[in-house]
Amino acid sequence: MQERLKELQQEALEAIQKATDLKALNEIRVSYLGKKGPITEVLKGMGKLSAEERPKMGALANEVRDIISANIEEKQQGLEAAAVEAQLASETIDVTLPGRPIQTGNHHPLTRIVEEIEDLFIGMGYTVAEGPEVEQDYYNFEALNLPKSHPARDAQDSFYITDEVLLRTQTSPVQARTMEKHDGKGPVKIICPGKVYRRDSDDATHSHQFMQIEGLVVAENIRMSDLKGTLELFAKKLFGEDREIRLRPSFFPFTEPSVEVDVSCFKCGGHGCNICKQTGWIEVLGSGMVHPNVLEMSGFDSKKYSGFAFGMGVERIAMLKYGIDDIRHFYTNDVRFLKQFQVKE
Ligand code: DAH
Repeated sequence: MQERLKELQQEALEAIQKATDLKALNEIRVSYLGKKGPITEVLKGMGKLSAEERPKMGALANEVRDIISANIEEKQQGLEAAAVEAQLASETIDVTLPGRPIQTGNHHPLTRIVEEIEDLFIGMGYTVAEGPEVEQDYYNFEALNLPKSHPARDAQDSFYITDEVLLRTQTSPVQARTMEKHDGKGPVKIICPGKVYRRDSDDATHSHQFMQIEGLVVAENIRMSDLKGTLELFAKKLFGEDREIRLRPSFFPFTEPSVEVDVSCFKCGGHGCNICKQTGWIEVLGSGMVHPNVLEMSGFDSKKYSGFAFGMGVERIAMLKYGIDDIRHFYTNDVRFLKQFQVKE
């Protein structure tokens, strides 16, 4: 029995020695010192011993237990200390390492163009106006001198929701809405950026949804020269100080006279290149003097008041300014495209 106890002690100490984690150590504790362990098993044979030997064996069994227990305790402390040590080592922070770059977003190129143009006109005393994208036929067409049968409606293939409601095809209805609110009293000086919709097939230069910026000034004694001066300033600010503008006669139902406005090519300076298609000029917007019918329909006295208006496509301006060759880039949200417009601050 004595030998068996010593053997068990030896076995247990070897197992403790080999244990590499607390779980293994606990298993050793349970198996050697537990109620169903081998030491208890050995002690069950005590009954066969003489009265003299019994206390000796009892004392030895206790001693073996104590030794095993003390070894487990010691090993446990060692393992715990090692675990803390390992955790500390894994959590050390090397403060000299360079930081991980933080991904930041940036403004969409269209937002940048809109904000740039807004800033420019706000600087000239304009306010920014907005209108609904789901618009009444009345504001989108009729109040702009395009009655129901007007052939020019065909030029803007529309998404109708009901006979009288459609997705606006232009930002011009905000002109009529704003004038109505002014109750026949000038001055009105607004620009309105916003989304517009047309039943176009998408390709490199067409999109069924795009953005426009509309401008409207109504006051006493507004003349064509005011329009020209304003647009000249706009062209220089947006495309460069050396730019010139050119007005070509055109037609819009809501302006009379109407003009198409070209800017001298910012790439070749007017000599002719691929951007201006060898003409030296780039068309950027439509414009004109507000038609008296439009003023009257929205409650302004056309004998007292006059005005000018203009409208431009934001994508077109952005494409020209940044050299983008496909309008669909603006709407497919490819970050490789969008990241190119990151402003380094
Ligand atoms: N609304 C016109 C369009 O979508 C653009 C336009 C032309 C707006 C002349 C105007 C303007 O305000 O005066 O084609």
